[in-house]
Amino acid sequence: MSTLADPTRVADPTTDAFVVHRNPSPVPDAVRAEALVAPRFGQVFTDHMARVTWTAGQGWHDHRVDPYGPLAMDPATAVLHYAQEIFEGLKAYRHADGGVWTFRPWANAARLRRSAERLALPVLPEGDFLGSLQALVREDVAWVPDGEETSLYLRPFMYASEKFLGVRASQEVEYLVIASPVGPYFAGGLQPVSIWVAQDHHRAGPGGTGAAKCGGNYAASLLPQQEAYARGFDQVCFLDATTNSQVEELGGMNVVVVLADGTVVTPPVSGSILEGVTRASILRLLADRGHEVQERPVPLTELVAGLADGSVSEVFACGTAAVVSPIGRLAGEGFDHAVHGGEPGPVTLHVRERLTDVQYGRAQDTYGWMYRLA
Ligand SMILES: Cc1ncc(COP(=O)(O)O)c(C=O)c1O
Repeated sequence: MSTLADPTRVADPTTDAFVVHRNPSPVPDAVRAEALVAPRFGQVFTDHMARVTWTAGQGWHDHRVDPYGPLAMDPATAVLHYAQEIFEGLKAYRHADGGVWTFRPWANAARLRRSAERLALPVLPEGDFLGSLQALVREDVAWVPDGEETSLYLRPFMYASEKFLGVRASQEVEYLVIASPVGPYFAGGLQPVSIWVAQDHHRAGPGGTGAAKCGGNYAASLLPQQEAYARGFDQVCFLDATTNSQVEELGGMNVVVVLADGTVVTPPVSGSILEGVTRASILRLLADRGHEVQERPVPLTELVAGLADGSVSEVFACGTAAVVSPIGRLAGEGFDHAVHGGEPGPVTLHVRERLTDVQYGRAQDTYGWMYRLA
C-alpha cells in the first residue's frame, strides 16, 4: 500500500518567521459571522494571506502575512503564459474545545515538493509549509467556522512570477496561502453523484504531469467535465491515456470500488493520477477494519461487468473537499448502471464517518494524523 510521509519526521514550523502586516480594514465581525453561517466553497476569503518569495539568487525569503488582496502582475509574468504553477488543498477543523487542527499536512507538504520538482519550481521547506498554515490560521482564527461539517479550506499555491517570455524555469517565484470558510459539501445530506466516463479525452498521460497538483491538469479536465454536465452528469471519470481502458480518477477526486465480498480496489498511483491524502487515509482505515485492499489497475470492462452482475457493491470518490462522495450512477458510451441502487452503501458511509470523526476531533486520533494550527 502506498504510504505518505510519516508524522514523526515533521519539521518544526517556521511560524515565527512570518512577519504579520495586519489588515487595516478587516471584514466587520457581523459580516464575517453572517459569512460563516452557510459558507459555499471558495467564494469568500479571510482577511489575510501568507506569503513567501523565492529568487534564484536569494532562495526563499520575506516570510510574511499580508492583508488579503489582489496581486499586481506584469502582463509578461511567466505563469500567465506557460502555466508554471502548483497548488495544494487542505482544511482546518475546529474541535469542540475551540482548538483548530489540520489533517496530515506533512503529506500535502511532500506532495507540494513532488509537484514543484515536476514543474521545475523551487522546493518549499516543510517547516515553511507548516509555518505558513499556522501563521495564517492564527491571524484569521475567527474565520474557522464551528458548524457541523464546516471548516476553513486552505489553498497553498506557488507560481512563476518572473517577467520574462522565454520558455524556461522562472527565476522568481511566489508562494501564497489563502483561506476560505466552507460548509458541508452536501447540503441537506449525503447525495450520491452521477459519473460519466470520458472515453475521448484524457486528463494526463505517461510521463506527463498527472501526479502533480498543477493548474494545467485541471484546465485539461474542464472540457470533458462540461461535456459530462451537458449529458446531465455531475462529474467525469478519466481513463488511462495509453489503452483508454483502465479507470484512473475523477477531475478532482480518487475512485474506490468495494466488491461484494468486502475487498476494496482502487487504481494504483501510476504516475498519471494524483496521490490523494484522503485516498491513502481511507485505504489505511479499511485495511485496519479487516478489508482486503488492492491497489491495482481497474479495467472499465471489469467495473461495468461487476455492476451488472452484482460483484461490485459500492463505488465512491474521495478527496479533501467532499471527503467521501458516494457514486450512485456510472455511465459511458454503451453502458449505464445504478450503483448500490443509487444509494450510499454501508462501507462508504462507515469510512466517511470514521474519517470525519478523526478530523473533527470526535474520535481519538490513533494514527497521529492531526496537527494543531491554533
Ligand atoms: C485530481 C485529483 N485527484 C484526487 C484528489 C484527492 O486528493 P486529496 O485527498 O489529497 O484531497 C484531488 C484533490 O485534491 C484532485 O484534485
